[in-house]
Amino acid sequence: MKIAIGSDHAGFSLKEVIKKHLEEEGYEIADKGTHDTVSCHYPVYAKAVADAVASGEEELGILVCGTGIGMSMVANKVHGIRAAAVSDCFTAEATRKHNNANILCIGERTVGPGLACKIADIFLTTAFEGGRHQTRVDMMMALEDNK
Ligand code: RB5
Repeated sequence: MKIAIGSDHAGFSLKEVIKKHLEEEGYEIADKGTHDTVSCHYPVYAKAVADAVASGEEELGILVCGTGIGMSMVANKVHGIRAAAVSDCFTAEATRKHNNANILCIGERTVGPGLACKIADIFLTTAFEGGRHQTRVDMMMALEDNK
């Protein structure tokens, strides 16, 4: 599975930890930056990952900033994206099963590296349940076309 990953300066260190962890598990990772801790603007990287996922270039995405919130707000403005800011294992599983989330957003200032890797593992290995959840996701996505 190909995964797009990105962060701003506040999420850079955790991005590197998650990237290494996932590469060791055999995932193919496309790193969209940033590549150091120099202050930068999270919308740049949120858009890069969201565009890659929306176009189908990568199947799922992971974004890291200070809290995960700014990244999720930006990513959700890209057509076709369902980004979820997650800080626990239950939510990581639920947002895949129920919301068919396609981008996971995590905060380096709020989630430790061990938990973050576990959250990423759960997010990437949990399937969407479909059924009644498909109806709701369809209703959600119809809003992108003002329906
Ligand atoms: C950067 O200081 C911080 O604002 C950013 O990483 C993120 O937490 C925004 O939501």
